[in-house]
Amino acid sequence: MLDVARRFRPLPELERFIDLLAAHGLNVLQLHLTDDQGWRFESRRYPQLTEVGGRRSASQLGHGPNAGLDGRHHAGHYTQDELRALVAYAAARGIRLVPEIDVPGHAKAILAAYPEFGVGDPAEVAARNREPWTRFGITDEVLNAEAATVAFVGDVLEEVVDVFGGDLVGIGGDEAVKSRWEADPRTHELLAERGLANGHELQAWFLRALADRLGRRGVRILGWDEMLEGAAPAADAVVASWRGPVGAGLAARLGHDVILCPDLWTYLDYRQSDAPEEPIPVGTVLSLEDVASFDPVPADAPAWFSDRVIGVQANVWTEHLDTRERLDYAVFPRLGAFAEVAWNGRPAAGFESRLPGYLDWLDARGVDYRPLAGPRPDQQRPGVPGVPRSREARLAELARLTATLPAE
Ligand code: ACM
Repeated sequence: MLDVARRFRPLPELERFIDLLAAHGLNVLQLHLTDDQGWRFESRRYPQLTEVGGRRSASQLGHGPNAGLDGRHHAGHYTQDELRALVAYAAARGIRLVPEIDVPGHAKAILAAYPEFGVGDPAEVAARNREPWTRFGITDEVLNAEAATVAFVGDVLEEVVDVFGGDLVGIGGDEAVKSRWEADPRTHELLAERGLANGHELQAWFLRALADRLGRRGVRILGWDEMLEGAAPAADAVVASWRGPVGAGLAARLGHDVILCPDLWTYLDYRQSDAPEEPIPVGTVLSLEDVASFDPVPADAPAWFSDRVIGVQANVWTEHLDTRERLDYAVFPRLGAFAEVAWNGRPAAGFESRLPGYLDWLDARGVDYRPLAGPRPDQQRPGVPGVPRSREARLAELARLTATLPAE
């Protein structure tokens, strides 16, 4: 998965990225097309999504409380014709593009364009969302749950299906904070009308309405494991489990197809060592060796689990990857180890012995990978703060976050 919402990447760069994925034997690229910070998909019915939602005046520089703004305008989107051509380009190389439109959270770019889809008075929503978010993190801003809002998202998803074809569309579902719904009298009316108990059930209702609409076109939804809070939105939904093993186990027990992308092994934006030279260090340490040690479905896993796992996925979030070179630095050579895990379904044993040849291969293609010894001076970001985290702290947070998933 590549996040082109935080950082728009021009089409020739996406084509190059697809060429590199194909050379690694990878066969799916999920395009994360929308987020708080930007909307990149041309909707002909809702042109403000890109006109307003596709541009921001600045971007956060670094992470954490001491991060400032870079003061640089950022804009871009893909037309439907461009995306159709990209789908064909990828297909010719054996790669399926899976689009993702992230709702009901991660929606500030939508609300900047169409504040009537937010919670509360549209004038206040507009005042809070004059443009897509220039900051990074999790916001409490969500779409409202009116029928008209669900219909709007459904209309956009119809356009997405027309462009991308295929039988799978990502609808997000991650990190949607429920506090605005819970504080809003109108949302309480909707809960009562629909016989729903709380925000988790409302999110399930919202996503189920989208799943039903896409289902009429023979398309299944793909969503992050938060999708299972409340109730599973659709029996055939595909669940991408990113917050440790809990969501994956629950999804498999409920009979869903599961994609494994646990952040501690597959988040390629996470820092590659604990050296202070790592550029804008975020997340836990995820070294090349750590990726190579990823064991997605251990040999002793029960069949009810292993039978449901349809693949693994590496996620490339781009808050701090603002150029092609920085993207290369984060992705390579870790993607080489990940690709071996993906092909074989087990850790990439002996990957070090194949590394010299692999690095030569990357060199020959002009890939600006991270040298094994650490970042070159031009790959560092001196003075730009990050938020490094320990594995223990992240494990404790994951336990807390996944505690809201139903037990069965
Ligand atoms: C995610 O990392 N928010 C799926």
